[in-house]
Amino acid sequence: MSGSAITPWVVGNWKMNPMQADAKALLQDFKKLLQNNEIKEQDCYLGIAPTMLALGSVQSELASSVRPVYPVAQDVSRIAGTGAYTGEVSAELLKDQQIDFVLIGHSERREFFAETASILNEKVKNALNAGLTIIYCVGESLEQRENGQAEQVVLQQICDIATVVQAEQWKNIVVAYEPIWAIGTGKTASPEDAQAMHAKIRAGLTQITPLGASMAILYGGSVKPENAVELAACPDINGALVGGASLNAESFYKIAQAFANTK
Ligand code: PGA
Repeated sequence: MSGSAITPWVVGNWKMNPMQADAKALLQDFKKLLQNNEIKEQDCYLGIAPTMLALGSVQSELASSVRPVYPVAQDVSRIAGTGAYTGEVSAELLKDQQIDFVLIGHSERREFFAETASILNEKVKNALNAGLTIIYCVGESLEQRENGQAEQVVLQQICDIATVVQAEQWKNIVVAYEPIWAIGTGKTASPEDAQAMHAKIRAGLTQITPLGASMAILYGGSVKPENAVELAACPDINGALVGGASLNAESFYKIAQAFANTK
């Protein structure tokens, strides 16, 4: 136990998975694991980000968990409030359904849905104004890393949102560093490389806000039970955003346990 002052977060990003019956079974298995060997809320916050379609049913299923496991939206509209915007879900609509957390800036949204910095800024601004907590994802591509631009790219992504986040709103932001080349590829950044980037992110955040020293910075990209303990031991890695491995209850539970054990 390192006794880190920052409570870690372990969040499952289900992406466009799974089918209904599998989701139900997964959640029931996960709740059973928590019941048999509870991970205390003060040792690790837990969240699951299902599809928008499944958010309500996952929320209901999680309500009977032995401890809080927060439903997290994978996305939010850049339009605030309500109105004639077919297909969109605003921050206010999420909040109205007691959804308090949202992922913004995931590389898959940046890449496949052309979410530029200005679109992300609108999302960040609306989400914060509606009272949501944001898990803001940053990360460089393989090409950017090979060209020695990783740090610059990641710090720029942090600076981008700094233009719309008000001083007191930083407490509602969790950063997730996800090198794009490590997402879904089975390649994880080495704990040393991940820690080095996390330390740079922390230094950058501290220049922007006094809250930087106490903000959780999660790592994402092929996190699994086999590498979670090593990643969790790094001082500036305060949790994980887990894709593939969160689709298996036992793997997700083990990752949560690895981070909870650092408290
Ligand atoms: P992965 O995905 O764990 O499957 O690499 C992580 C993510 O994209 O959040």
